[in-house]
Amino acid sequence: MTLVLEEAQAAESVCSLENYLTLPDHTMDARIAAARQKLGASTVILGHHYQRDEVIRFADFTGDSYKLSKAAAETSAKYILFCGVHFMAESADVLGQAGQEVILPDLNAGCSMADMAEISQVEACWEALEAMGLTEDMIPLTYMNSTAAIKAFCGERGGLVCTSSNARAAFEWAFARGKRILFLPDQHLGRNTGYAMGIPLNEMTVWDPWALQGGQTKAAFESSRVILWKGHCSVHQRFLPSHVDQVRAKYPGIQVIVHPECRWEVCQKADALGSTERLIKIVEDAPEGSMFAIGTEIHLVNRLAKRFADKGKKIITLDDTGCLCTTMYRISPQHLAWALENLVEGRVVNQIKVRRNVKHWARVALDRMLEIKG
Ligand code: 13P
Ligand code: SF4
Repeated sequence: MTLVLEEAQAAESVCSLENYLTLPDHTMDARIAAARQKLGASTVILGHHYQRDEVIRFADFTGDSYKLSKAAAETSAKYILFCGVHFMAESADVLGQAGQEVILPDLNAGCSMADMAEISQVEACWEALEAMGLTEDMIPLTYMNSTAAIKAFCGERGGLVCTSSNARAAFEWAFARGKRILFLPDQHLGRNTGYAMGIPLNEMTVWDPWALQGGQTKAAFESSRVILWKGHCSVHQRFLPSHVDQVRAKYPGIQVIVHPECRWEVCQKADALGSTERLIKIVEDAPEGSMFAIGTEIHLVNRLAKRFADKGKKIITLDDTGCLCTTMYRISPQHLAWALENLVEGRVVNQIKVRRNVKHWARVALDRMLEIKG
């Protein structure tokens, strides 16, 4: 009896996270590969493009938020190991089938933008807009980078989810059904999308959840076609219009391509905007000798620079201080090895489980997104 207990304790301590965190990165490779092989088809590893090389090389599917949510919806693997951030794992749980379990290797891998909209704040905003008589023909639309509760809020009120790759299609979907959009939580993606569709800036008003009545007059909201939540991505806010001028002066002929989470002034100066998947495609399709300054997370930029160096394409980051998403970075090879080896032992660690009542409407909102053309 004592022996059995000791054996159980020994197995537990081998698989406790602290035992992994002090080990060097390179020692994880063989362990991750071995655990991955043992788990076989029971497990799928999804990796977002911002993950570090030591992690993403083990992903079965890589992609932007849209592509990964589709992969999560289509896989039949029992375990979905999500190398990304919390809202992505939540969406995978919402879209997954009964019996599938989603694992986020480090629970601290959140998203500061998603944290900028709390469900209680969104409910208060809606109530205030309702009191102004504006919600009847308003469609709530949330960026994927939001909690499942906010996705559910949108689903329940006739709205949907979008990613940076299908924001325009989602806007068109919403305008076919209503006169106004409440766009959560990234004001920049909302503004860039609306503007590209011909909506002037003065018809897109920011709702500040920390200010009385959103910080604007009723008249300003009444004359708006898009109400933008005051949220942003701190990584992409670091790119400035002056960076565009500087790289153009230094490298004549360089193309500037940026993620639409960048501020409007940067996007206006850029040659193209796109989701992470689209940015990759632009570089892939460019002829030899092309030069790009990319405004997005540094791991993706560095990976592209390495991948295309011997194909005669020069790739630099738009801001040479390097913009790192610290929460994506939290998924380390040690966390991945820990999650996988625990699975081999039959233990599911860091499972992400969305509450049942939230799941239903979040699924409605996500399904609407998957149904529209990206
Ligand atoms: P993508 O959907 O373009 O991959 O973007 C996700 C994200 O969080 C960007 O900051
Ligand atoms: Fe969130 Fe920005 Fe990181 Fe994307 S890059 S996960 S929006 S903090």
